[in-house]
Amino acid sequence: MTVVELIERKRNGGRLSAGELRALMQAYADGSIPDYQMSAFAMAVYFRGMDDEEIEALTAAMLHSGRTLELGHLKLPRVDKHSTGGVGDKVSLILAPLVGACGVAVPMMSGRGLGHTGGTLDKLESIPGFRTRLSLEETAAQLESLGVAMIGQTQEIAPADRKFYALRDATATVEAIPLIAASIMSKKLAEGLTGLVLDVKTGAGAFMPKLDDALRLAKTMIALGERRGCPTVALLTDMDSPLGEACGNALEVEESVHCLRGEGPADLRAVTLALAAEMLLVVGVATDATDARARAEHALQSGAALDKFRALVQAQGGHPGVVDNPVAILPRAPIRERVVAGRAGIVQRVEPRTIGRAIIALGGGRSKVDDEVDPAVGIVLHVRPGASVARGQSVATIHARDPETRQVAEEALRQAIVLGDEAPARRPLISHRVTVRGVEELPFGGAS
Ligand code: URA
Repeated sequence: MTVVELIERKRNGGRLSAGELRALMQAYADGSIPDYQMSAFAMAVYFRGMDDEEIEALTAAMLHSGRTLELGHLKLPRVDKHSTGGVGDKVSLILAPLVGACGVAVPMMSGRGLGHTGGTLDKLESIPGFRTRLSLEETAAQLESLGVAMIGQTQEIAPADRKFYALRDATATVEAIPLIAASIMSKKLAEGLTGLVLDVKTGAGAFMPKLDDALRLAKTMIALGERRGCPTVALLTDMDSPLGEACGNALEVEESVHCLRGEGPADLRAVTLALAAEMLLVVGVATDATDARARAEHALQSGAALDKFRALVQAQGGHPGVVDNPVAILPRAPIRERVVAGRAGIVQRVEPRTIGRAIIALGGGRSKVDDEVDPAVGIVLHVRPGASVARGQSVATIHARDPETRQVAEEALRQAIVLGDEAPARRPLISHRVTVRGVEELPFGGAS
């Protein structure tokens, strides 16, 4: 069977066997299949989809293209969280040390920016000296000594996904449930976890904007986790506007430090605490939802989460001063200018994709796989949907490297922040909880 025949079969709506998918992903990982053929394959999957068996086989093929973390010797439960991606989503930076401070090991493996969304690794690397490229052995040792490690997908972990992820980013083939589910779960299942929590985004800035698709994605990933013995839970959270106020790598680290100090935007804090509670529950450290919530809140309020973040930064070579004085330590863009409202009104929308693309235009994300990311640039939003603004009131601050990109970002912001006269419909921040047992709709504003 040639690669062309496999692409042709998928293009025509047929299915591929587990053996065929394994051979395809292995050959792609070792360089025997060129990018142009895998691009065609990804596009065929995008349009034709995959059945459950194919998704399971694709996940296994990517998982077994590399090594797995061996953490069985750790006495602690091991839990991670993965987000399907969003704009301003800096939750991982707060969550990993917070949950690590609750007596659970958190081997958090994150990605780089994908499409219009930001990536935790790019954010962490804006901290001077911070190393995300730990070997599996270093990661295991740090988990033993500190209980938390924040790492990138090394060459060793699911290398087929690593390559395929970058290819999908460049070929408009990210937004496909089988590909997202297999990509996320192949990495997570390589971490040797005893529990996993998924943050599945819905709304305009999510890869799966519609609720039904987001639920399908959540159920698909939960089935993959549970079938391989990893208890998996998902929360559906809103990505109809950016999370928090800061969008851009160093700016998001600064906001995360505020949140770890018990300050910061309410939506960011609410999503983080809800995910933290699920992480403590899924591995059985907390007895029930109330206990889980209390433990997570205590870790934040007592300063234990902040101390764990300081220790994590130090352990991975980062400048520990970022915790006490982020503004002095993090890179700063030379141009910082406010954008003001051209009219009075009520904010109807803050369009996350437009903001995400503006960050890329500022240099804070990638248009091509090998683009360098400028850690300093970004946008800080001063308004969110439902806010009333006066004419001339500042709605955002642009952090830019040069006047040209500042101008592009300003034009994007004028499109992204839509003003009107009526109060917009409110959206729940955390709408559903999905487990292997079913879907629970949460009370409106279930996060607070
Ligand atoms: N995150 C991933 O790791 N993979 C995807 O495909 C999308 C989000």
